[in-house]
Amino acid sequence: MTEQDVRKGLVGVVADVTAISKVNPETNSLLYRGYPVQELAATQPVDAVAHLLWHGELPTDEQLAEQRRRARLQRALPPELREAIDRMPLDAHPMDEVRTAVSVLGALDTAGAASVLDAVGTPERNRERSLRLFAVLPAIVAYGQRRRRGLGLIEPRDDLDDAANFLWMTFGDEPHPVVAEAFNRSLILYAEHSFNASTFTGRVIASTLSDLYSAVVGAIGALKGPLHGGANEAVMHVFDEIGDAAGVEAWLDRALADKRKIMGFGHRVYKRGDSRVPTMKAALDTLVAHYERPDVAELYDTLERAFTQRKGIYPNLDYPSGPAYNLMGFDTVTFTPLFVAARVIGWTAHIMEQYAANALIRPLSAYDGPDERHVDGYVADE
Ligand code: SDX
Repeated sequence: MTEQDVRKGLVGVVADVTAISKVNPETNSLLYRGYPVQELAATQPVDAVAHLLWHGELPTDEQLAEQRRRARLQRALPPELREAIDRMPLDAHPMDEVRTAVSVLGALDTAGAASVLDAVGTPERNRERSLRLFAVLPAIVAYGQRRRRGLGLIEPRDDLDDAANFLWMTFGDEPHPVVAEAFNRSLILYAEHSFNASTFTGRVIASTLSDLYSAVVGAIGALKGPLHGGANEAVMHVFDEIGDAAGVEAWLDRALADKRKIMGFGHRVYKRGDSRVPTMKAALDTLVAHYERPDVAELYDTLERAFTQRKGIYPNLDYPSGPAYNLMGFDTVTFTPLFVAARVIGWTAHIMEQYAANALIRPLSAYDGPDERHVDGYVADE
């Protein structure tokens, strides 16, 4: 093994085969189990897309009704999770709060497993755990934001679909259809993206036959980073720093002089633009019109044009998502937890696919440390 064989960051390495999604930078497209994501975002509720990613097919009416029946039984925040969240400092990062809540959920759900061999559970148990996480994460994220604002818990409403109920539990108002539709679209676009860093983290943990919750906790840790999921929060910090469109050029001069990474731009796989951006930008446009905020669109367009012209680097999904979540009323620190609530679908689909593959992920490394040497005075046993 020589250093020439090393592919830092696994750039360009095809690590395994998956049937869940196909990211195609050549055609700038993304398929979820064969369906173009923009078609799903325009026509499906997010829980139907969850069924597709978990089970391989869009649900029949009966299958969706049954999945909804089981999910609605698990939307409310369990007291043990609320207590765990209430013990967190109010200024803890919400991603740490979400990670703690999922850890507690996992400890409670796997309690009693006779040994680690039992923790991994059966395929049916893991399908139930996947639905459990999808159902309860909105309550975890919504309560976290309300608690930081000094507001109380809002119970879920069974008459609302997932996007509308998430907004209801966060803001206490039934959302306008324009807002609920844009939010549903963002959840579908964030749901899955092949072997991104957090999903691959989850697969590595699942490959040891550790339990699904441990794999999701690891994925949350990976998603928190600003080079990955944390970018949607960081995009809003950039917008706040710039202020308005008139400030873009001067801000960009300074940022590039300081060799800063401009959050919301660039992608490891897509090099001529992220296939999801047009669909999410269209959702942002509906929100700009709904809230009458042309200033947001002007800042968005000015920064995109200026940076793309200078560096030839294009927006990724986090760029339109940041301002969209801001217009919906989410606090900036809540943005990446929103990503968790959506990406938990893709994570759990991949974790279950990895269990079925039953293959430990353990790459090699090339060594460039000191040559072999020995401890002074050591004498080997005869
Ligand atoms: C997500 O993988 C997925 O699928 C992730 C994701 C998903 O759905 O799971 O799509 C979600 O994580 C999107 C990415 C969100 N992150 C950001 O917006 C952070 C800013 N972006 C960059 O950090 C960067 O673009 C990455 C990390 C996303 C990708 O980096 P790469 O592929 O490793 O490319 P690179 O860092 O090697 O960049 C190549 C060149 C470098 O210049 P040089 O050092 O060669 O001169 O382009 C420059 C980089 O400095 N560059 C940027 C830049 N992105 C790349 N320069 C300034 N700002 C940027 N955003």
